[in-house]
Amino acid sequence: MTDQELLSAAREAALGSYSPYSGFRVGAVVIADDGREFRSANVENAAYPVSQCAEANAINYAASHGVRKIDTVAVACIDARELDLAYPCGRCRQIMSEFDPDRILVTTAAGDFRAHKMDDLLPYRFSF
Ligand code: THU
Repeated sequence: MTDQELLSAAREAALGSYSPYSGFRVGAVVIADDGREFRSANVENAAYPVSQCAEANAINYAASHGVRKIDTVAVACIDARELDLAYPCGRCRQIMSEFDPDRILVTTAAGDFRAHKMDDLLPYRFSF
């Protein structure tokens, strides 16, 4: 899959978001080191802190299918303002760091994107 295809898959995944409280639909796609693909979206809850981010859902979904090394995570928010980049929150950065992705793609609603290394997003990260 090309980077553009990955990001459009992340935008497609965002359509499955359950986000009645924020109105902020986020989608994430994980590509595992063996090529398998896992998509998910954010799922909110009336008890707000119980809500789950798209990246956390996609990564935990992949991990629960045996993935231990991630090649790429692509993230898209289809409700951000045109030029705003949808960056993963701190908790999601820690969750993804466990499976050491080679690249994290972050996109704007307009389709522009950036590719980051894990160390750029979470320097001096916690690990055993
Ligand atoms: N959200 C994500 O899905 N990923 C992030 O990295 C940051 C925020 C979701 C959580 C909530 O449903 C909505 O965006 C607004 O914070």
